[in-house]
Amino acid sequence: MASRFTQLVAKLEYPLYVVTTAVRNERAGCLIGFATQCSIHPPRFLACISKRNHTLSLARRATTLAVHIVEEKDRDIAELFGGETGDDVDKFARVRWHYAHGVPILDACERWFAGAVLEQIDLGDHVGFLLEPRDAEQSGTSQQLTFQQARDIEPGHKP
Ligand SMILES: Cc1cc2nc3c(=O)[nH]c(=O)nc-3n(C[C@H](O)[C@H](O)[C@H](O)COP(=O)(O)O)c2cc1C
Repeated sequence: MASRFTQLVAKLEYPLYVVTTAVRNERAGCLIGFATQCSIHPPRFLACISKRNHTLSLARRATTLAVHIVEEKDRDIAELFGGETGDDVDKFARVRWHYAHGVPILDACERWFAGAVLEQIDLGDHVGFLLEPRDAEQSGTSQQLTFQQARDIEPGHKP
């Protein structure tokens, strides 16, 4: 059953995001596909981070996460944040970014929002971060990069 489910979900299509956060002078971020709006009134978004990821240890202590919509034109961002781990490299030394709401915002991304962490939910091998959006920016609407388009990126941490 588990392997039939794995085969089924492997063929699904969904958008990708980069989640970033900061605590004091430390920054972290990773590519995620397990993410969705989960309430309209009030507005809520669920972002799921693997327990293996470097980003999790910082996110656990953070009050705010930024969620960036990854566009097809930003494949290099997906490769950096999905294919490298903060255990080994400083991803933020390789991109242009600035602070907003105390978290790093990637300059290349034209759509992002910052969300306050309301709850951390143990979901299995991922932790769900229930976010209340506090700010959202949209300077353009390109085509979103999707899971199937990015499946060839070798995750920095094995799932
Ligand atoms: C297509 C794709 C989707 C991914 N989805 C998730 C996800 O939903 N949640 C997650 O925690 N990691 C996901 N990853 C894996 C992380 O982005 C990857 O392991 C990253 O290198 C972790 O970085 P970190 O160790 O600096 O946090 C995905 C990777 C790829 C290539």
